Amino acid sequence: MKVNFYTSKREYMEKKAEFDGAIESVLENGISTLGKEVVEFEDKVKEFTGAKYAVGVASGTDALVLSSDILGFKDGKEVITSPFTFLASSSCIARHGGKPVFVDIDEETFNIDANKAEEKINKNTVGILPIHLFCQMADMDKIMELSKAHNLRVLEDAAEAFGMKWRGKHSGTIGDMGIFSFFPTKTLGGYGDGGMIVTNDEELYRLAKCYRVHGATRKYNYEYLGYNSRLDTIQAAILLVKLKYINEGIKKRETVANWYKDRLKDIENIKLPTIKGEQNGVYYVFNIIAENRDGLVEHLKKNEVQYSIYYPKPLHLQKCFDYLGYKKGDFPVAEKVSQSILALPIYPEITEDEVDFVCDTIRDFYRK
Ligand SMILES: Cc1ncc(COP(=O)(O)O)c(C=O)c1O
Repeated sequence: MKVNFYTSKREYMEKKAEFDGAIESVLENGISTLGKEVVEFEDKVKEFTGAKYAVGVASGTDALVLSSDILGFKDGKEVITSPFTFLASSSCIARHGGKPVFVDIDEETFNIDANKAEEKINKNTVGILPIHLFCQMADMDKIMELSKAHNLRVLEDAAEAFGMKWRGKHSGTIGDMGIFSFFPTKTLGGYGDGGMIVTNDEELYRLAKCYRVHGATRKYNYEYLGYNSRLDTIQAAILLVKLKYINEGIKKRETVANWYKDRLKDIENIKLPTIKGEQNGVYYVFNIIAENRDGLVEHLKKNEVQYSIYYPKPLHLQKCFDYLGYKKGDFPVAEKVSQSILALPIYPEITEDEVDFVCDTIRDFYRK
């Protein structure tokens, strides 16, 4: 048996008529950028998340870059964030000369350890950028408390967090701005790139809408130096189909996570995920902490079980951030986790037999 880490094929074949119909309808009506499907999708995301405003853009990365620019995460200002994340969570700050200031992560949630953030705040700090990774949100109580106490803007990187809630509030809607990614593997993923900015602040919304179209307030009237970053109309049409089934998809991810937990719980060499705080997590990624992770990876490869490693090298050790002056040992928890974390295949269409095969393969490795 070969187990894919992810494939869009099964979902497409199950709902082929709906996807084809949605795409054909865009084409038959004549393509228009920021077409009616984009507006409809923004409205549906507002409804689902409870955000007042939503702006569809070309990717989660762009959503972060535009938001960082708008919130003033630039020109030497400092923004507190985690080094254990995808590059875009920090490059968005550095892109316009802002300075990412890293804080180590919580050993169990892999999210920023908000208790270690306060000591990094100084006169130059303007924001906090929490990332809600894998299956749960960062401690938004502590982060919002810090933001209020020190007058900091909060940008939530909810690229991986569609459907997650903290005390009943959807990810991305608690801070000043939040962003989602619709990269294909995501809980709500398109069939290409896409992203969205959400906010409850009318002025931030107005700016996000301008920045998406070169900073224009009216056609050919440029008040700001903006970007060309629009959510593609065909992607919006696909995402509208997918959003109809999002609750089912989230439930199925939970079922798959429970299959894994049940089958792996007695293996002493691995640690299973725990969700902390008053929140509703979503299993976008199912991670284990594995003893001899690299040996296990070789064994999975031999048995055609695909996997992922998020993230093998924390950002403070990446060459592109050399200039920040960090060194090995600065964030020991992130460094340790990066050596032992392993993501197993999880998506709504994966079968119980496939999960059994993955778990048997892992068991077989540790029995040797
Ligand atoms: C935490 C995080 N931030 C940002 C991004 C960037 O999103 P995108 O791939 O849509 O540009 C991703 C996803 O790839 C992500 O996982």
